[in-house]
Amino acid sequence: MVTDELQAMEAEASGAIQSAPDSNALEKIEVEYLGRKGRLTGLLRGIASLPNDQKPLFGQALNQAKDRLTEAVTARRADLSSGERAARARAETIDVTLPGRSRPRGRFHPLSSTMTDIKRVMIGLGFEFVDGPDIESYRYNFDWLNYPPDHPAQDEQMSFYVDDAHLLRTQGTALQGRVMETREPPFRMASVGRCFRYEAVDATHSHTFHQVDGFGVDENISLADLKGILSEFARGMFGPDVIVRLRPDFFPFVEPGVEVSIKWGDRWLELGGAGLIHPNILRRAGYDTERFTGFAFGLGVDRMPMIRHGIDDLRLFLENDPRFLQQFG
Ligand code: FA5
Repeated sequence: MVTDELQAMEAEASGAIQSAPDSNALEKIEVEYLGRKGRLTGLLRGIASLPNDQKPLFGQALNQAKDRLTEAVTARRADLSSGERAARARAETIDVTLPGRSRPRGRFHPLSSTMTDIKRVMIGLGFEFVDGPDIESYRYNFDWLNYPPDHPAQDEQMSFYVDDAHLLRTQGTALQGRVMETREPPFRMASVGRCFRYEAVDATHSHTFHQVDGFGVDENISLADLKGILSEFARGMFGPDVIVRLRPDFFPFVEPGVEVSIKWGDRWLELGGAGLIHPNILRRAGYDTERFTGFAFGLGVDRMPMIRHGIDDLRLFLENDPRFLQQFG
């Protein structure tokens, strides 16, 4: 009897719906029994064998069974999806009590922070910073700076030549010619950057090092201005008690020339050279030497963190050993 079949099939479908393990399986069961070509609809074919007066009753029974199963599918679907959401939430939960993964913190290289400090102090003293090229022409590195043709500093041994007319700059002072060709006084200019020399490397000398150069041209510039600026600079870098000493020295581009040292503890440490800009250079720049004079200084940058942190070997700066670098910053 087709009515018995209907009952058996409803029971079977209902069991399958209740035990569907997930929403995909449930969807397949729904299609199998309730789909347009599903098994329940298939029972309609058996209606022909029923007496006429029972046909409408059977149709009704079939529709009611379909409604009940549809409802069961809807209820089961709601159950499953809330279970699946909960499982997903469990799987994706972050355990906030686990220890964090530590990330190493970046920090500035001691030379970089020294150069930042230098800029801060010198900008405070009215200097404008400019950059020059690492590969410099012979002309700006030496000719412009009043070197006599046979001066020993021009000896090839002192420099890394790129070709006959270019070398890795040996001193920050090379920037003077570049600036003076384009500027009229008064000005105060500075640069900080790399210098290179063909040099036997030891604890205080490297083939690659850094210099800060500052120079100014104005009316009535004297050695007193130079000493005042260098003293302010040293105090800004090393603290209020530091003392600057100037002693006579020779550089072709200054007259008079001095060596610059600071007193650190009970020792005098040399920082670099300085002086009043040689009149030959001011004339070459086309400045009126009756009216304008200038000062210039060039100091070793690498020396400064060595003094501040008590580092005894400047080669450590270029080795990039984290055990050394992690102590700073
Ligand atoms: C000069 O280079 C001049 N240009 C300085 C100057 C500028 C004088 C303006 C007058 C007017 P000197 O060669 O002494 O001078 O170098 C200056 C400083 O740079 C030195 O005192 C030292 O601190 C640093 N320096 C020089 N060579 C090296 C090196 N191989 N390694 C590390 N630091 C160096």
